[in-house]
This record gives sequence, C-alpha cells and structure tokens, in this order.
Amino acid sequence: MQTKNEHVRVFAPAKINLFLHVGQKRPDGFHELESLVAFARTGDELCLAPADGISLEIDGPFAGGLSAGPDNLVLKAARALAAAGACAEGARIRLTKNLPVASGIGGGSSDAAAVLRGLNALWELNRPPEFLCEIGSAIGSDVPVCVEPVASWMAGRGEKVTALAGIPAVPMVLVNPGVPVPTGTVFRALNDRRGTGLSPPPAMESIEALVSYLELTGNDLELPARAIAPAVGEALDALAAEDGVFFARMSGSGATCFALVETAEAAQTAAAALRAAHPSWWCAVG
Ligand code: C5P
Repeated sequence: MQTKNEHVRVFAPAKINLFLHVGQKRPDGFHELESLVAFARTGDELCLAPADGISLEIDGPFAGGLSAGPDNLVLKAARALAAAGACAEGARIRLTKNLPVASGIGGGSSDAAAVLRGLNALWELNRPPEFLCEIGSAIGSDVPVCVEPVASWMAGRGEKVTALAGIPAVPMVLVNPGVPVPTGTVFRALNDRRGTGLSPPPAMESIEALVSYLELTGNDLELPARAIAPAVGEALDALAAEDGVFFARMSGSGATCFALVETAEAAQTAAAALRAAHPSWWCAVG
C-alpha cells in the first residue's frame, strides 16, 4: 500500500485456489470448503482519495464487464466499513479492473478486501485484520482470505483463514477463455465432492514438493464448471502443453485456469505462445 498526498493506492492481487475441496452444504446454504490459496503478481489496482461521500469509478481493460452501482463489492465493502467503524468520512474510489470478471480468481473479493485495507488506512481507523475479515465475510466468501493476500489455508465457508509460511512462490501463467461462470451456478451443478477434513500442509521447500502435494488434491468445482463452460478444458489442455509447465488446474469456480511453471522466463514464453494461439483469451503471468 502506498500513501501519497492523502491518496492511498492498493493492489488487489488475483486469488488462486491451488486446490479446492467442497464438503457438506450448511444450513445457511453455503458449502464447507477447504482450500490452499495463493496470490498472483497480477491484479486490479485501486486509488482511494478523501471525499465527502463514497463514490466509485471504474477503468481498465475489464471495466466494461462491471457495474459501478451499489451492488459492486467495492462499494458494499466501503459502506460496511464506514458503518462498522462509525466513520462519517467518504472516499472517491477508482478501480482499475485488470482481471476478468466472474472468473474464479476472486477479482471482486480481492477488490473488496483491498478497499477494506485501504480505507482502514485512509480513514485512520487502525482496525486489526480480524475486524476487516469479519466485515468481509458478510460481503463474500472469498473476501476474508484476500484481506491479507499471502499464501493461506481457507476453511469453513471461507471465513476461517490461516496464513501459511513455507509455501514456495512459484511462477504462474493464468488463462481465462472468456466465458464468465457465476459461482452459484457451478455450486448448483456440483455432484461429486471430496469433502473436507485435511490439515494444513507442512512447509515445502521446492516447487516439486508443492506439485507432489497438489497432485493428491483437486478442484471439486472443475467438473461442473467444465460441463457449463467446455472452454475450461481447452484452457487446461493448452496450459499443460506448454514447455516448463509442472501442473495445471482451474481456480475457484472457473473459468480461469493456472499453470505452475518451472521458471519466470518459461512463464513469459508460455504466455506469449498462448496469446498468439488464442488471441481472444486473457492470459497473464502471475
Ligand atoms: O459468498 P459468495 O457470494 O462468493 O458466494 C456465491 C455463491 O457461491 C453462493 O450464493 C453459493 O451458491 C455458492 N457458495 C457456496 N459455498 C461457499 C461459497 C459459495 O455454496 N462456501
């Protein structure tokens, strides 16, 4: 986070579910989850400035896919924090939307969490992360894990978050085949699930150790997402075919897929090849 001339700039990185297991549906309608979450180097950017009321403007390559109306998670988060912090101040918020919308990498959730972090600083509320997580969990299941965007173990509906040391930072390539997949639709199409009950992994020294661990896990939402959006399968095949790719999987409820890649150079080369072969896809190095 960067503060300059009373502006606060916040980065909202893409959230990657390295694995995602789904358990029982709870009485509140949400499912129990277990996920190892990492954050990419690519993401949305927010700039917050003092103002009388709370307002939002959106620019960037994916601005067109998003309404700046009251349902926007950024505005919901700002209003919820103002209410919970009994804060009468406002903010002019500019969101630069670099991540595709409804794409399984928590764009809206990461934006909401970034706004909570940023306004906590701009309004000098000095609230601890747990306070922001509690507000965030009422906005969306993925918001708490995005409040402190570091490798984390996520459980419950998403509200139980434990930061994990010892998850190696791995070069990634992200690909979205351009089909928005609403999370609720994918959950409704879910038949098979692995269930929950794992413990957080021990520290891992190498990419190979992480990949061996991930190979024993899965993303339970991948099958229903592939049925809704067959392009998910094409994206996974395309990623897996690139040189230096150790591992490819879908993130969240899709349709974005990620690959863990041997080196940063191999990630750049793979991304360039994927962009050339599939000009309509979104592709980023993470
Ligand atoms: O919390 P969020 O708004 O991201 O959830 C979107 C939808 O995804 C929910 O309405 C629900 O259908 C599904 N969901 C779920 N269990 C979770 C998280 C999301 O069933 N833990």
